[in-house]
Amino acid sequence: MEVITKIADLQKKIADVRTGGNIIGMVPTMGALHNGHLQLVKRCVAENDCCVVSIFVNPTQFNDKNDLLHYPRTLEADCKLLESVGCTFVFAPEVEEMYPVEDTRVFDLGTVAEVMEGKYRPGHFNGVAQIVSKLFDVVKPDRAYFGEKDFQQIAVIRSMVKLLNSPVEIVACPIVREEDGMALSSRNVRLTPGQRKNAIGISQTLFKSRTFAERHTVIETVEYVISTLNAIPDLEVEYFEIVDGNTLLPVDNWNDSAYIVGCITVYCGEVRLIDNIAYRR
Ligand code: PAJ
Repeated sequence: MEVITKIADLQKKIADVRTGGNIIGMVPTMGALHNGHLQLVKRCVAENDCCVVSIFVNPTQFNDKNDLLHYPRTLEADCKLLESVGCTFVFAPEVEEMYPVEDTRVFDLGTVAEVMEGKYRPGHFNGVAQIVSKLFDVVKPDRAYFGEKDFQQIAVIRSMVKLLNSPVEIVACPIVREEDGMALSSRNVRLTPGQRKNAIGISQTLFKSRTFAERHTVIETVEYVISTLNAIPDLEVEYFEIVDGNTLLPVDNWNDSAYIVGCITVYCGEVRLIDNIAYRR
């Protein structure tokens, strides 16, 4: 495994790999890697000849300066983990390398980028599109792997790829959870032990809501999840929406779509946590 920080160096290596007719897979990350990331990397290694993992805390997607400031950075440990799962290249550039000049591009990514996270984190998905389009330009991967933990992000990336006529195949991978159900996230390390205990309520309530949904309407299920979570200390729901898994628009009835997902954002103290669950798939 090689760790590369310059675009030109990475491009040379990639060109060599390509000449051999090899298939290139890529996993974009912001580092502070955990088993959720590693599952994407393992799949990328298994399905491609060469696996490129990028580690870059992208400033343009943070609408909250405090979140950017506190984002965990653990490059050395990340590289050890990546080496252990067979990654070929780690690309870990500085901010100036990715943004030599300000990126003023505004992407029209449609409604999938405007609802939910789009509403509560203005500019976030535009920043994601800026960095992922740059990474795709540099690496030109055949496949790129993303986790369903960030369910809306996958829809946004698919929309971006269409907009830009990118030939990359987007591969969606299931959410990886702790034994107690909590979705793995780089932000979990910021929770106090007490908050971490209460945060279990998020996934547990989502799982319970699947049974609840069998005998209740969509709106009753939304209210059940929000009121259950808001009654738990430390937790405050920002939004919970039950949406069509493709359009991300809210559904009124369980029969409205064959693919229905509940997407939630909860503050646990200062830490913003997201999760989701499929009701119909
Ligand atoms: P980051 O939060 O580091 O996540 C990198 C990838 O790992 C994303 O595709 C995310 O969905 C996936 N992931 C994180 N936790 C997961 C879990 N518990 N189970 C499954 N997959 C999980 O998402 C980003 O970085 C950035 O927005 C990025 C795409 C890199 C652009 O900067």
